[in-house]
Amino acid sequence: MSRTTKRDSLTLLLLLLIAILSISSVESGRPPFACDPRNGLTRSLRFCRTNLPIHVRVRDLLGRLTLPEKIRLLVNNAIDVPRLGIRGYEWWSEALHGVSNVGPGTKFGGSFPGATSFPQVITTAASFNESLWERIGQVVSDEARAMYNGGMAGLTYWSPNVNIFRDPRWGRGQETPGEDPVLAGKYAASYVRGLQSATGNRLKVAACCKHYTAYDLDNWKGVDRFHFNARVSKQDLADTYNVPFKACVVEGKVASVMCSYNQVNGKPTCADPDLLKGTIRGQWHLNGYIVSDCDSVGVMYDTQHFTVTPEESAAATIKAGLDLDCGPFLAIYTDLAIRRGLLTVTDVDMALANTVTVQMRLGMFDGEPSAQPYGHLGPRHVCTPDHKQLALEAARQGIVLLKNSGSLPLSTSRHRTVAVIGPNSDVTETMIGNYAGVACDYTSPLKGISRYVRTVHQAGCSNVACKANNLFGFAEVAARHADATVLIMGLDQSIEAEFKDRAGLLLPGYQQELVTRVAQASKGPTILVLMSGGPIDVSFAKYDRRVSAILWAGYPGQAGGTAIADVLFGTTNPGKFNSLAQCRKYQTL
Ligand SMILES: *[C@@H]1O[C@H](CO)[C@@H](O)[C@H](O)[C@H]1NC(C)=O
Repeated sequence: MSRTTKRDSLTLLLLLLIAILSISSVESGRPPFACDPRNGLTRSLRFCRTNLPIHVRVRDLLGRLTLPEKIRLLVNNAIDVPRLGIRGYEWWSEALHGVSNVGPGTKFGGSFPGATSFPQVITTAASFNESLWERIGQVVSDEARAMYNGGMAGLTYWSPNVNIFRDPRWGRGQETPGEDPVLAGKYAASYVRGLQSATGNRLKVAACCKHYTAYDLDNWKGVDRFHFNARVSKQDLADTYNVPFKACVVEGKVASVMCSYNQVNGKPTCADPDLLKGTIRGQWHLNGYIVSDCDSVGVMYDTQHFTVTPEESAAATIKAGLDLDCGPFLAIYTDLAIRRGLLTVTDVDMALANTVTVQMRLGMFDGEPSAQPYGHLGPRHVCTPDHKQLALEAARQGIVLLKNSGSLPLSTSRHRTVAVIGPNSDVTETMIGNYAGVACDYTSPLKGISRYVRTVHQAGCSNVACKANNLFGFAEVAARHADATVLIMGLDQSIEAEFKDRAGLLLPGYQQELVTRVAQASKGPTILVLMSGGPIDVSFAKYDRRVSAILWAGYPGQAGGTAIADVLFGTTNPGKFNSLAQCRKYQTL
């Protein structure tokens, strides 16, 4: 072997070693966010000393940061400060009903191909079961911590959405626990308690109740959330819109609140000192940080023209009590605001103290993540059989029986062949709604029903918009020859979504005609199953004697098809749960 080939093979070996090491470091987790024990600097930094009280550590850290560094820590993609051994941090992660990849802080792949996808919140809320909500929170934060340890997620989750779902056309109503302030408050406190699993001052993950306040419009006939001014009386604010936020802060002890895009009584919520400093901090005593909705600080200047200059908008938000900007606006204009005398460094320090305190409560300044509580959580703690079973249980408890003139439950001996019809009959992603992640796996309604009986499948419409009725004949033939017919109809994100409100409450397109024609053709009983977040007026089916039963499944999550089949065949009894109160939502029924 010549000297050069020997050197070449050594280089190759070295490269291979580096490759193996970097792969194994992804496997074994992320390096410490700060205070790495292998960094010689750490010993000299008081903010790294875990035996000191957190407020002392926070003060020490703030004393070491320069003003430009501080300003770049006021935004969601917070800068690294290498001279103090601090890495960059992405604050934006989401976990509305399972770890989600909506925010840039979380991604799936490698050892974390998916996470347990629970039913959309509107479904889980329909269980009226506080212990279920808390348990789901605990499971979601187990999976979140596991993914954080693996370098795939953050520790600050901007969930839950506890806005009051007052306008039934709102595209984001699906994300919320509904229109009732008491129920929404209980949901907020329970889910947050589960997610944060606080022990003393310490947090497993930090939750965030959003979007404060009086927000239930996205885009309706040309009016959008960026321009919307909610006119709300003090009484309505206190009795309705703020109730879940108060419960979230006071009872759930949430670590964060997010203000909204819309204005309330002519002021952007993120620049209203009465709403932020006055109510959230002053009256409810938030122990945590207040964050803007994403780009909402920019929106109040660019779209709402709330101030004449951008630095005035920047100053107004921080003065009002905002601590963190989701978006770049504060990183760009805070310096100018200070130089113009609109804001002081002390104002910036107070904001940072609130965010850094939460990071310290999460253990982010305690060195090695693997040496911490939850440090053992990894890929094998995600999508476990227990977690998947809980997702199924939540769907079973959330499904609501709206009508039953005696045909439910179906019987496997009398209903040997079931026609499964409708645009939502074999869906997967539709079942998890929005602000979801990648599910562990799915059971569609068709698959779920097929586990009980022989099925004949006809979609009836090519999608939920159901713009044509040319396939209805096939559906009628299927119904005519089966022992029972299950129609799985409703909505999906093409009809109700963020940025998309509905204009009416009826089933889209020709869906109603499909239900009526199939019910008429059916040899056996016809059962209508609705998938939707917002309510649907199905009076036509209530009064149609050929539609013998109606179920509302919401968006029932990854195990939704199993749960629907379990309810249809009587394995689980939807009458056991409080359906009556939920039925009030369907006032036409
Ligand atoms: C609430 O949910 C839990 C967890 O699934 C379950 O054990 C309990 O029976 C439920 N409570 C009611 C009243 O159904």
